[in-house]
Amino acid sequence: MKTVTLNDGTAIPAFGLGTWKSPKDAVYEAVKTALKVGYQHVDAAWIYQNEQEVGRGIGEAIGSGVINREDLFVTSKLWNSFHAPEDVEKGCKETLTALGLDYVDLYLMHWPVAFKPGTLGPKPEDLVPLSEIPFSATYEAMLALKEKGLVKSAGVSNFSVSKLKKLIEETGVVPAMNQVELHPYNPQNELLAYCRAQGIGVTAYSPLGSGDRPESMKLKDEPPLLENETVNAIAAEEGISPAQLLIAWAMDRGTVVIPKSTNAGRIAENFSAASHSLSERARTSLDNIDIQYRYVSPDSWFISGVTYEGESFWD
Ligand code: A2P
Repeated sequence: MKTVTLNDGTAIPAFGLGTWKSPKDAVYEAVKTALKVGYQHVDAAWIYQNEQEVGRGIGEAIGSGVINREDLFVTSKLWNSFHAPEDVEKGCKETLTALGLDYVDLYLMHWPVAFKPGTLGPKPEDLVPLSEIPFSATYEAMLALKEKGLVKSAGVSNFSVSKLKKLIEETGVVPAMNQVELHPYNPQNELLAYCRAQGIGVTAYSPLGSGDRPESMKLKDEPPLLENETVNAIAAEEGISPAQLLIAWAMDRGTVVIPKSTNAGRIAENFSAASHSLSERARTSLDNIDIQYRYVSPDSWFISGVTYEGESFWD
């Protein structure tokens, strides 16, 4: 399996199983199936509310000799309600207990926004101003988890260039990873170039366009990525499926990619895309798809004057 080396020397498998939106009953089987097929990387998060089932799948795969813990890379994420520095370890330990693990390989700050303890959001009254809990204070508390051996590497998610700059300036530490929404409709070329220059690894979430998001998160008439004409035409030319093409494109760009599936056939299909080498024509065609669309955009969390003063969240 291709790996990406992080700035702390850790090698992360460039392909992993996404578990956002995976129902509890299905994700246990999905994780077991994936690890049997050869996946070595599982991406989880406290807020997905399925870490216990993810952990059960991992535990069973390890217990039955399918994979060793050392050969498996597990990522999880600190939820927004644990941003107060004194709550960070609690958030991490809840994840470790649910997953049944002593450590995670990579621990990310899920969003650069803080919620009141015990809240899931996204109600405006759950938001905590950045002036009260700056994300750099949260990140420093996450770094202490490394010292304690609870996490091997630390990073962030959903950080823009300006927020990464601020984090680096305030903590003096360059995060190992930034996990963001990345696909041909939201290629984030500038962010990718900045992360490359800084040695920050990038993970692409929603690489297939996350068509299984709850209806409440969808706009009417949103463009389904897997139905895009160019994606379908180029996939046919390459002799692979549209999903496989999107995965191969993400890996070709040097990003880590974490497609979600709970279907055994598609779990295997996605895995085989990781060894597909993209033709120049496919790369250029996908690079040049001229549609901009962000599928995950919780703009209601980023209220000017509450969480952020006079700046747009994605800037
Ligand atoms: P399923 O879990 O039933 O396979 P994303 O990773 O961008 O969040 O996208 C996840 C969505 O893409 C889910 O609806 C998932 O459905 C679907 N999906 C995953 N793999 C494939 C595939 N190979 N072909 C078509 N759809 C896929």
